[in-house]
Amino acid sequence: MIDLSALDPEARRQIAAGGVALAWVAFSGLIAAREAARRRAGRREAAALASGSGEPVLVAYASQTGFAEELARATAKALTAAGTPVTLRGLSSVTTSDLATAGRALFLVSTTGEGDAPDPARAFIRDVMGATPDLSDLRYGVLALGDSSYAQLCAFGRSLDGWLAHQGAAPLFDRVEVDDGDEAALRHWQSQLAVLTGVTDLPDWSRPAYGRWTLAERRRLNPGSPGGEAWHVRLEPLDGALAWQAGDIVEIGPRNDPAEVAAVVEHLGLDTTTAQALSSRRLPRELDALDALTGLPGEAVLDRLTTLPHREYSIASLPGDGGIELIVRLMPRADGKPGLGSGWLCHYAQIGAVLDARVRTNRSFHAPAGDLPLILIGAGTGLAGLRAHLKARAAAGQGRNWLVFGERTAEHDYFHREEIEGWAASGVLERLDLAFSRDQGQRIYVQHRLLEASDTVRAWVAQGAAILVCGSLEGMSREVHAALVEILGTEGLERLTDEGRYRRDVY
Ligand SMILES: Cc1cc2nc3c(=O)[nH]c(=O)nc-3n(C[C@H](O)[C@H](O)[C@H](O)COP(=O)(O)OP(=O)(O)OC[C@H]3O[C@@H](n4cnc5c(N)ncnc54)[C@H](O)[C@@H]3O)c2cc1C
Ligand SMILES: Cc1cc2nc3c(=O)[nH]c(=O)nc-3n(C[C@H](O)[C@H](O)[C@H](O)COP(=O)(O)O)c2cc1C
Repeated sequence: MIDLSALDPEARRQIAAGGVALAWVAFSGLIAAREAARRRAGRREAAALASGSGEPVLVAYASQTGFAEELARATAKALTAAGTPVTLRGLSSVTTSDLATAGRALFLVSTTGEGDAPDPARAFIRDVMGATPDLSDLRYGVLALGDSSYAQLCAFGRSLDGWLAHQGAAPLFDRVEVDDGDEAALRHWQSQLAVLTGVTDLPDWSRPAYGRWTLAERRRLNPGSPGGEAWHVRLEPLDGALAWQAGDIVEIGPRNDPAEVAAVVEHLGLDTTTAQALSSRRLPRELDALDALTGLPGEAVLDRLTTLPHREYSIASLPGDGGIELIVRLMPRADGKPGLGSGWLCHYAQIGAVLDARVRTNRSFHAPAGDLPLILIGAGTGLAGLRAHLKARAAAGQGRNWLVFGERTAEHDYFHREEIEGWAASGVLERLDLAFSRDQGQRIYVQHRLLEASDTVRAWVAQGAAILVCGSLEGMSREVHAALVEILGTEGLERLTDEGRYRRDVY
């Protein structure tokens, strides 16, 4: 330290002046920093005021197979992290007065069937959209999930958006449509959340990463069948815990036919590292598209080819089985070659290969709470989702189960016959009805078995039974739905839907 008293007066004056100048510089720096912080806070506040970020937001979802719900939860989490109070609700529990008083609401909804709303949205459509409330105090946003391979893209999201506007609600931004999980549209939705909250540095959310699973077993379930190949497929985890419930879905990250990859690699003269990465990219199908890549380095080729989409399969086992079991039908593409996901699972993946897969919660196909009797209806691969439920019921000692299963022939297509007959013998199944369509002159399907047993269906429902339907939309669930309307009446079936006692996993 310097002893100032030892210095002459001039030196002391100069040091004092320097000190004042230094103090001034420090002081002005502090003021400037404070001013900048004040201006930043002011800008944030202005953005917040413009968007009303402090106001709570109602986040409502309607999902058939779990994706809209997953995105609604991610949306609620992002808003909460940005300091915005959130109420997260299934659309079925949202009332007109909730909408009239919410202030701000975000709707995340999918479309199913042929332009239909998801089952859990039925009560909302009837009770809320059937009315004409004044929603002029509501500002809203819609995320509409859909798939352009269906004729009526995002039909329910579009009609909900139209209805909200018609009731006087004001859009916060244009409807965001997500075609087949399109990542760019999902990023757009996230950017709208940033504007809404005034917090621009919200962390990006992405779909949960795939886990690594081994293809442990693959067995043809219907050798000699007149129908398409169906396979029992078993995946065992290489990392991560086994956690799912009966009714949940697994998303598989497929790979291309190795022969198609090899043909592209040869055509473009690519190296082996690029060849490996190509197995999970959409390959160009037309020669023109292939030629446009000729001469490009491997990295540039990969940059131009998007990642393959996932495929969904109903899980046919429980975590206690030690792995995910599936029933997969090989689907031919238009050119006769195996479909992407089913081809990968049934043909191309080798036993012992490492597969990409992740579980998706599908709450709308979980069993209803309580020990209700269950009527389980499915055809073909639809047995998968029902099998997981029956395993859960067997483990819980719940015996009031009635399985109605259909396929083509008893001889070739009675999937998991021993297990099903074992359940019938041990009392896990109180009743078993089988419909093998080709085993007799006239075609008999599961809907016919239900109609034959109309009185018993009504009796089970009167005793509180829930109905679970799993399998193909076109081939089965539409006819089963019509049979149930005939047996229980439109209102009866609607009441079951409202009570969560009519649940479907149909595709
Ligand atoms: C919630 C859910 C659960 C599912 N569970 C199962 C399951 O347990 N077992 C199972 O085998 N499949 C199941 N699927 C269907 C599966 O996800 C794939 O759609 C199917 O395997 C065909 O895909 P791919 O990639 O092999 O064929 P792609 O390469 O997509 O196409 C092959 C051909 O099949 C047609 N196609 C695709 N999907 C269907 C369909 N659903 N019905 C009729 N034609 C179709 C296409 O138009 C095309 O012509 C489920 C789907 C959903 C949405
Ligand atoms: C059986 C079935 C029918 C579908 N019908 C349509 C449709 O008519 N229009 C559409 O845009 N999308 C349709 N889709 C695509 C879904 O809307 C899309 O996969 C969505 O991401 C599913 O979201 P969810 O899991 O929340 O129900 C259909 C999907 C399935 C499985």
